[in-house]
Amino acid sequence: MTKISLSNKLTTQTNVLVITTKFINEFNLPDKVNNYIVAELKKEGVTHLTYNYIGKYLSIFIVDTKKEQNALLETLRNHGAKVADGINAAKHTTIYIYNQTKLTNLSLAAAEGIALANYQFIKHKPSQTKKANTLTSIIIANTNINPTDLLHLNTVCHATFKARDLVNEPVNSLNATDLANAFKAMGKEASFKVDVFNKKKITELKMGGILAVNAGSVDEPTFTVMEYKPKNAKNKKPYVLVGKGVVYDTGGLSLKPTLNSMDLMKCDMAGGAAVGCALYAIAKAKLNVHVIALVPATDNRPGFNAFAPGDIITMMDGSTVEMLNSDAEGRMILADALHFAKQYKPELTIDMATLTGAAMAAIGTFGMVGMGTATQQQKDKLHASGFNVHERIAELPFWEEYSDLLKSDIADQKNIGGPLAGAITAGKFLVKFVNYPYYHLDIAGPAFLSAKDSYRGKGGTGYGVRLLFDFFKNL
Ligand code: BES
Ligand code: MN
Ligand code: ZN
Repeated sequence: MTKISLSNKLTTQTNVLVITTKFINEFNLPDKVNNYIVAELKKEGVTHLTYNYIGKYLSIFIVDTKKEQNALLETLRNHGAKVADGINAAKHTTIYIYNQTKLTNLSLAAAEGIALANYQFIKHKPSQTKKANTLTSIIIANTNINPTDLLHLNTVCHATFKARDLVNEPVNSLNATDLANAFKAMGKEASFKVDVFNKKKITELKMGGILAVNAGSVDEPTFTVMEYKPKNAKNKKPYVLVGKGVVYDTGGLSLKPTLNSMDLMKCDMAGGAAVGCALYAIAKAKLNVHVIALVPATDNRPGFNAFAPGDIITMMDGSTVEMLNSDAEGRMILADALHFAKQYKPELTIDMATLTGAAMAAIGTFGMVGMGTATQQQKDKLHASGFNVHERIAELPFWEEYSDLLKSDIADQKNIGGPLAGAITAGKFLVKFVNYPYYHLDIAGPAFLSAKDSYRGKGGTGYGVRLLFDFFKNL
């Protein structure tokens, strides 16, 4: 685990990332080296420079002060990802960040980019352990950093790694029970309450959506209830997070085409991982907010009495669903969790789910789509957090007419809405199960990347953890 710490013991002997508007040689670099650097940085279009001096790594980043604040922070995170690669390539263990500007946020953003880019998932490839990243320590050399900010940054990076680990773990080593056990371990470590319902309890509670999706599976479903309630909580009514925990999605009897489309489907519990790990970060950082996280989990397979297109399912709330496509399974399990959440009378419920290919088709992997009945103020805060951490939310319309696409002749709703507006009809299906302010975030696009993208890496990105943590931190 990469650790970010503070120290002012900066010497010429250390690897350093310099953040500056105009490079000042505070590093005893010989005139010749300094002149070279200054000349290079003067060249048209040059915004950063990497230089190896007596075997030490030196990277200089020129801050464009005209840039909007959040865009600027993101350039620092992206540069941090390059620095992490450079440090590891040179087999160094430590990088200092030295900021010659007054903008302390930039040091934190650079550290964040370096730390997140340094993540690896190599536990299943023993031959790779020799190639494990050498970087272990990120040291911010300016001591005017607020210690709480530093603690929050370490915490949220650590929680993001946990989410990535869970997403990257394939279903043969992470089924619904394993996922619930992972949450239990996190609760123990960060002191929050974790209750896991097994199939018997799920059956007693008549969670028909979860049982339907689980019907084709050998493995039992789980329903995890996590609660963090500090004594000094500011909110009277809790916030509830709900995450999709489909540990593997074959599509069920409406089987996904085997060519590639199933390859990434171990990522279908990314929403569950995000909300669980966000709660972990919130508890670790001891934020004074009362938050509950719910994760319904199962795999979606075509075995046994797998639910068949045409089946009518009675959900936990008593309403019926004509299941016309077993690949629209996420909404079936989320619906029961959203109904379950009513007992808490939530201030706001946010769900995160890799719910539709349509969300990914709409905006790609550069953000998530959002919609719902939350108040404008709640939405504004979520969107602001999205910009703060660069996990942006693209708001989709949530007009009444979209619900018409889900009308069924023989049940209360169908579970698919046809070829148009697929991300929205999924949200419209879900909103039928709530009676409180609600916001739905579809993370199908950014949750899992098939090629490396800066500090988000390749594979599970942990998308959503940083957004939620920022939202609750700023409440
Ligand atoms: N898990 C998928 C959505 C998904 C697609 C996640 C790509 C990540 C990447 C979801 O369960 C699904 O299969 N959705 C269907 C819904 C349709 C049948 C209405 C889809 O998007 O095709
Ligand atoms: Mn599916
Ligand atoms: Zn799915």
